Amino acid sequence: MSEAKRLAAEKAIDYVEDGMIVGVGTGSTVAYFIDALGRIKERIKGAVSSSEQSTQRLLAHGIEVFDLNATGPLSLYVDGADECDPHKRLIKGGGAALTREKIIAEASERFVCVIDPAKRVDILGRFPLPVEVIPMARSLVAREIVGMTRAQPVWRQDAAGRGIVTDNGNLILDIHGLAITDPVAMESALNQIPGVVSVGLFARRPADVVIIGGEPPQLL
Ligand code: A5P
Repeated sequence: MSEAKRLAAEKAIDYVEDGMIVGVGTGSTVAYFIDALGRIKERIKGAVSSSEQSTQRLLAHGIEVFDLNATGPLSLYVDGADECDPHKRLIKGGGAALTREKIIAEASERFVCVIDPAKRVDILGRFPLPVEVIPMARSLVAREIVGMTRAQPVWRQDAAGRGIVTDNGNLILDIHGLAITDPVAMESALNQIPGVVSVGLFARRPADVVIIGGEPPQLL
């Protein structure tokens, strides 16, 4: 699938305009986008990054990274996704960067999502839904999720059994076994639970354009 990811990511360069500060997501698909951005870096002013991982890659290409507070609204945000439905609603956060990704998506006029064909689904939820939580609220939020959805939240841990810590110092619960028939309602219901920082459902603010990698890439 990495060839499809590369083709989608490189097509997104078509949306980059001269002098832009580009919002940049996180993940293996976006890594190809950053590399392509590096090849045209003289044309852009810089980037706003959604993760330490993307920041390091941008800086390695000599692309200046700005604080979102200093830039104001952005014209363009490019990011990958874990699942995408026919309405361009997404599950994101497989790389644990969902909160900053959601902030930049909200701050951007146009959200271009780059995916390989395997990410397309009719109903979101086959991919476990990531929820970023404040550490002290992990068990509380997990119980509330079970009561609300009857699905199974799993604390994301590394191979050594240590909780994955986000760039914001929080933890991730992945909700397994969902079939999300009303993504907007589920996004707002989960957001109401005290201790939830953000939910990896991008339904209230879906993508504007989805590029599906292939020869040639397709647009949704
Ligand atoms: C990062 O937190 C995610 O939202 C990524 O955008 C998503 O997991 C897609 O990642 P890949 O491009 O690596 O498949």
